[in-house]
Amino acid sequence: MTVESDFLTLGIETSCDETSVAILRGEHHVLINSVYSQVDLHAKYGGVVPEVASRNHVLKLPFLVQEAMRTLGLQLKELSLIAATYGPGLVGPLLVGLTHGKGLAFGLGVPFIGVNHLEGHVFAHRIAHPEAEPPLMALVVSGGHTSLVDVPAYGNYQLVGMTVDDAAGEALDKIGKMMGIGYPAGAEIDRLATLGDPKTVHFPRPMIGSPGFDFSFSGLKTSVVYHLRKNPREKQQDIAASVLASVVDILTKKSIEAARRFHRKRLIVTGGVAANSHLRKALALAGADRGIEVLFPSLSLCTDNAAMIAAVGAFRHLRLGQSHPLSLRPDPSLSLGQAIEA
Ligand code: KG4
Ligand code: ZN
Repeated sequence: MTVESDFLTLGIETSCDETSVAILRGEHHVLINSVYSQVDLHAKYGGVVPEVASRNHVLKLPFLVQEAMRTLGLQLKELSLIAATYGPGLVGPLLVGLTHGKGLAFGLGVPFIGVNHLEGHVFAHRIAHPEAEPPLMALVVSGGHTSLVDVPAYGNYQLVGMTVDDAAGEALDKIGKMMGIGYPAGAEIDRLATLGDPKTVHFPRPMIGSPGFDFSFSGLKTSVVYHLRKNPREKQQDIAASVLASVVDILTKKSIEAARRFHRKRLIVTGGVAANSHLRKALALAGADRGIEVLFPSLSLCTDNAAMIAAVGAFRHLRLGQSHPLSLRPDPSLSLGQAIEA
């Protein structure tokens, strides 16, 4: 059941290299979700340059807000709540969105709420499947994060496991760089892998059998470096397929196991790497095998976007009565839920 259907939330997301603005009606009806990706600006550096990201958020954000209002024929004074990401992420980029959001809230005299980006990824699921409520297990897997989070109810999180080194997307991006693929490499590795043979090289599956639910991807990266040095002529498609076979195996085994251990019948998968077609297939199969429903948001909700941020803001404000003072600071290392022993 949703409440306050004329309630309009403006969401702002600037934690990394996507500038995004969304307007949400009620708790999960997305009116607009516009994303300006700076990916081309960073591609030539092989990764996100924080200063370049901050500067471009400053340039794009006010324009995106104006555009969203104009497209919907809305006036700023009709907004009910401003929600902006305040962590985790890069401090400069976070500061741009947060300051803009706070300024708007102050000027309009409406409440402001800071949003945890990771909770945003969980709420991408709520937008896509509002009927599929918790309890559930969430795998948040992106360029910045690889975390398993138990969600007994929205707003209530327990961190079950996380990467001890690189995030899965980060490892794919670094491996892609070594293979001579542009940045970010995840989508291209996905495409290449479809054309290759995953049995060509058996890359390691670090921590796949470890007792807890933590992940590690940096060893995989190292073994790809050595393999490429020794086999410079190996086909890109076969390397991509073999690398993904390792990443998909690890993510699938750990998340299905976590759902079982915590007695969850539903697993949701969000974040940029959740766009991966091989991961989607493997998880759907493994889930069907074990009686676990596996759900993915649409591709545009998997990657960073402001609709998911607005959805957290609206939920927390309407259901939990929360808002933040305008003194709220960015928190680059904000986490989601207390770590628990698995
Ligand atoms: O969620 P996101 O947009 O930003 C972060 O919060 O990190 O995720 C971006 C990450 C990048 O590492 C990118 O390579 C990866 O998601 N990615 C993919 C695919 N599409 C994007 N990885 C694997 N397969 C894909 N199809
Ligand atoms: Zn993200």
